[in-house]
Amino acid sequence: MAKRIDVSGLSAFYGAHKAIEDISMTIEPRSVTAFIGPSGCGKSTFLRTLNRMHEVVPGGRVEGKVMLDDEDLYGPGIDPVSVRREVGMVFQRPNPFPTMSIYDNVAAGLRLNGSYKKSELDGVVEQSLRGANLWNEVKDRLNKPGSGLSGGQQQRLCIARATAVQPKVLLMDEPCSALDPISTLAIEDLIGELKEQYTIVIVTHNMQQAARVSDRTAFFNLEAIGRPGKLIEIDETERIFSNPSVQDTEDYISGRFG
Ligand SMILES: Nc1ncnc2c1ncn2[C@@H]1O[C@H](COP(=O)(O)OP(=O)(O)O)[C@@H](O)[C@H]1O
Ligand SMILES: [Mg+2]
Repeated sequence: MAKRIDVSGLSAFYGAHKAIEDISMTIEPRSVTAFIGPSGCGKSTFLRTLNRMHEVVPGGRVEGKVMLDDEDLYGPGIDPVSVRREVGMVFQRPNPFPTMSIYDNVAAGLRLNGSYKKSELDGVVEQSLRGANLWNEVKDRLNKPGSGLSGGQQQRLCIARATAVQPKVLLMDEPCSALDPISTLAIEDLIGELKEQYTIVIVTHNMQQAARVSDRTAFFNLEAIGRPGKLIEIDETERIFSNPSVQDTEDYISGRFG
């Protein structure tokens, strides 16, 4: 099957500090891949190399290759802004633009891309909010600030904002860690629906969540504090949680460290 993402030999640095080393993996379209591993092993760093957000950090630098379909994301002449349009991101803390209405939050990315007729924007906003399972809760208050929503609603608003520009890939960095259990389940259900259209990569420290939402799971680890994080193994989620190939994975998922 054609790969959506193909990473080879990827390392990422903060100044002189190598945070992750020599990571290679492929990710298929319309799948959910979970990244798990102890704090500090480089899950967030690796995620940000997939849409060129790592280099936004001063001193941030990447070696190796990331292919998105047949586009070399670090190749010459590639515009990082257009990469971030194709590879959207949802963060740990819901971060709707605080002064903007619900409508404007969802429309923001489109407005940056070009000019649209009001009717076109209306259509995309509704479709994106429906896609994020939020439409029915907000359709009567589209002009109210996004920051007035509950945490779980704000996170779904951020997902609607990310999908409004029709990315190929959605990256989610611990998207539920600031949410209550009910809101968390709503996001997990949504991930299951979104994967019919998008390729999803989610970092989670919650193993049950990884087991519930993902098709494949990647386990990252580091040999010692200060050493770079590495990909230990990636496999079908069922296999990682029942019969992983590497002892360190087994130890981590059975809670012996991390
Ligand atoms: N902005 C930053 N500047 C310098 N070092 C950082 C920065 N962000 C993360 N790091 C370092 O990179 C390593 C990996 O961190 P991170 O990717 O956040 O791990 P994880 O998401 O798995 O907890 C850690 O050693 C961390 O201290
Ligand atoms: Mg992290």
